Amino acid sequence: LADHESPAVDAYLNSALGLEIPELEAGREHAHNAGLPHIEISTAQGKFLQLLIEISASTRVLEIGTLGGYSTSWLARGVGASGTVISCEVEPLHASVARENLQRAGLSDRVEIRLGDAVGTLDSLIDSRTTPFDLIFIDADKRNNVAYLQRALKLSRPGTVLVVDNVIRAGKILDDPSQHGLQEADIRGTQEALLWLRDSKQVSATALQTVGSKGWDGFALARVL
Ligand code: DHB
Ligand code: MG
Repeated sequence: LADHESPAVDAYLNSALGLEIPELEAGREHAHNAGLPHIEISTAQGKFLQLLIEISASTRVLEIGTLGGYSTSWLARGVGASGTVISCEVEPLHASVARENLQRAGLSDRVEIRLGDAVGTLDSLIDSRTTPFDLIFIDADKRNNVAYLQRALKLSRPGTVLVVDNVIRAGKILDDPSQHGLQEADIRGTQEALLWLRDSKQVSATALQTVGSKGWDGFALARVL
């Protein structure tokens, strides 16, 4: 078997480890049927986020990029019944599908979806001196990754966990962004996010490549100092 079989391995892991939660997979389907792009995290990545939250004893989580609420649902499972997830989404259709999915999964009590440009939402959270978050998952438009990281830091405390999705993009981060047309700003935003993580004196970071149902990609993981 070759590494192009990695989606089949994800399917095997879902089955071998019993990773799928029927209500969440139904929400994934509902989002696809509503025409949302099929770019949500994999089942195994969702469980990984839930476990990161549980391991770090996080009860207050911020998500940037709700989409149809699939990752949001895993975050909501992680924080537990008395925890809180605030999730930022700019597309009204995405937010409304996500609200339906969270409702059907019985998770809406612990999730607040903030509709609007995420930079603006984060700035209002900063202005209102909101309680720092324990974990922040950045998974929105990649061109704004540095703007999101800068604001995430202001919404953090020492020990806050930062996760940035899609930092590999099939190896395109090795390329000159100007060769990538419409994807240029997003590739540049991802490269700049990694450099920001390197240069910030306020975080300690790494990144891991991943394969599987979402293809060759990866995420960055950081701890706020
Ligand atoms: C895209 C965005 C994502 O967050 C992701 O996980 C995969 C793909 C995209 O915009 O293409
Ligand atoms: Mg993503």
